[in-house]
This record gives sequence, structure tokens and C-alpha cells, in this order.
Amino acid sequence: MVSLDQLEKDLLAQIDQALSLQDVEDIRIAALGKSGSISELMKTLGKLDAEQRREMGEHLNRLRESVSNAIKNKMEGFKEALLRERLQKEAVDITLPGRSHNKGSIHPIVQAQFDVMEIFSKMGFYLADGPDIETDFHNFESLNFPDDHPARQAQDTFYLPTNQKGEKMLLRTHTSPVQVRAMLEAKPPLRIIATGRVYRSDFDQTHTPTFHQLEGFVIDKNVHMGHLKGCLIQFCREFFERDDLPVRFRPSFFPFTEPSAEVDIGCSRDNGVLNIGPGADWLEILGCGMIHPNVLKNCGIDPTVYQGFAFGVGIERIAMLKYGITDLRAFYEGDLRWHKNYGFSAFDALMRRRS
Ligand code: PHE
Repeated sequence: MVSLDQLEKDLLAQIDQALSLQDVEDIRIAALGKSGSISELMKTLGKLDAEQRREMGEHLNRLRESVSNAIKNKMEGFKEALLRERLQKEAVDITLPGRSHNKGSIHPIVQAQFDVMEIFSKMGFYLADGPDIETDFHNFESLNFPDDHPARQAQDTFYLPTNQKGEKMLLRTHTSPVQVRAMLEAKPPLRIIATGRVYRSDFDQTHTPTFHQLEGFVIDKNVHMGHLKGCLIQFCREFFERDDLPVRFRPSFFPFTEPSAEVDIGCSRDNGVLNIGPGADWLEILGCGMIHPNVLKNCGIDPTVYQGFAFGVGIERIAMLKYGITDLRAFYEGDLRWHKNYGFSAFDALMRRRS
């Protein structure tokens, strides 16, 4: 049997000559692993008598200590060398030009929705929601459109097959069904806005088959046309950021409001450039009216106790006017250059909403 001193010398020499981390690891396993040379010697201690065991044990412990220290030192040396090599290889060349990042932006429709929500939330309105695929009941019938009413055609509806319950289905032509859903779900007083996508079979420079609307309505005791006017004048002036913006109410017709009105805002045209504000011209931006008693009745609300007003605004239309966008169709083309030009900073939007 080799002497322990010889074994130590051999192992230390091997460790010294090892060329890589793997070499040292191999030596470690061969010496200190489960069946390594030193571990095997340790196992023989049990067969020795007490005196010999003490002597041999001390000797073996020293051997194990010295070998494992040598291994540790050698390994650290290799690790350091590897690290140095990596740092050298991966050094950043700070003279290279930086890589640019593509910044995303908020779509003008979403920005207009944020702007609108901010204004109405200050007035105490809550946000509601409804499905894009609606029943004929919610979109038309409950809103006082009789079966053969020409207004059903006027909205160029996309009809869908009837559902399992036998209900006539369609893509909502306006956000007014959200009114019906909210009234059926909650008791007045109600002060609600909803924004969302609506669908009409129409396509030209000023019409797309899908666009967005803002719906708003208030139901309470003693609500009258004065409240409707005050609320909408305030909205128009805040949205277009002009305290002197002229706002005009023109009589109109909707089956679900009585009386009904269309709202125009003042503008002027300078060599083809449109300016929102006091001027010789008017621009129509929304429809509104006092909720028809039949609609309240259809939704389980007593019209002799409660009254309400409602309004519907085309989001694209007010976004185009506010942000100076001229072609409606560009909203949906997904052209990144257009987004870059007309989009809004996500950071600004976030900070505005938090303040
Ligand atoms: N829903 C109507 C439309 O799309 C707009 C509107 C809403 C009018 C609420 C009056 C009251 O044309």
C-alpha cells in the first residue's frame, strides 16, 4: 500500500498540474468522492484497534484537509481566470452607436375615450359595458323602435342568426342598448357612461362598418332638459378645451328620446382649415334627448316618478375634430407611421389619469 505521505504528494502534484476546472473536479471525485482513494481509506478505520485508529484517523484527516484545501484553491484560481476571460470577451464597446427602441403609442380612439371618461368621472358618472353581439330586444325593441320602424333600416344593421333561445341577434348599431342593460340591472338614480364599438353596414370617406360611440345617461327624480343642456355644454367645452365654445341644440328625432336634439359646436373655416371655436359655422357632434317614457317602462322604471336624459357621441368624430385628423378610414388601417404621427404617449396618458 502506498504510504499516506506518498498519496498526499501524488494528489497535490496532480492538482498542481491540472489544466482545467474539469480536471480538478475529476481529481476531487477520485480522491474524496464516495469511492475515492481517501474515502476508501477512511472506511478501513473501523477494522483497526483503538490505538491505531486514533493515529491513522488523525493522519487521514490531515491528508483529507490538505487535499481538499488544495482543490479549493485550484478551483478558485480557475474560476477567477474564467471570469477575467469572460469580462474581457464580453466587454462593452461604448463607442458603438446605441440601438434604438420603437416606442408604442396610444391610439387616438383610446385617447379620446380616456379624455371623455376623465370629464364624466368628475361629474360623478360610472362606467358600464355591454356586448357587441346584441339581441334585437336590447338594440331596438326596448328602445321604442316598433317592428316595422324605418329607423331600423336607417341604421343599416348587420343581422345574425337567432340564438338558441330564439332571440333575434345582431351587431349592435349603437351603444344605447347599454342603457337598457344598466336600467334592467340597477335601480335609479343612475349616472352612467359607456364607450364601445358599434357596427353599421356602410363604407365611404365618412363612414366605416365599425366605429365607436360614447353613450351617457342620467335617471333620477326631477331630471329635465336644463340638466341635459348644462351637462353637455360642460362636456363639449371641457373636451375641446375652450370655455367660449358655442354649443347649439337643434330639434331632432330618435325613437328612444322625446324631445330629441342634435348638438352642434361652433367652428370656422379658414382657407379649408377647420377651427373649433366661435365662428360662422356649426358642426354636428352628438344626439341626445329626454329618455322616452316607453323606454323607462320597458326597463321597469316608473316614468311618473323618474325622468332621464341620454346622449350618444361618435368617438372618431370628436377625436378627428380635437386632434386634427382628416380621414376616418385611417383609424383602422394600422399604419404605424400614422400611429406615430397621431398617437399619444402612454406615459403622459398614465400620468394624467393618476393626477
Ligand atoms: N343612439 C343614437 C345613435 O346612434 C344616439 C343617441 C343616444 C341619441 C342617446 C339620443 C340619446 O344615433
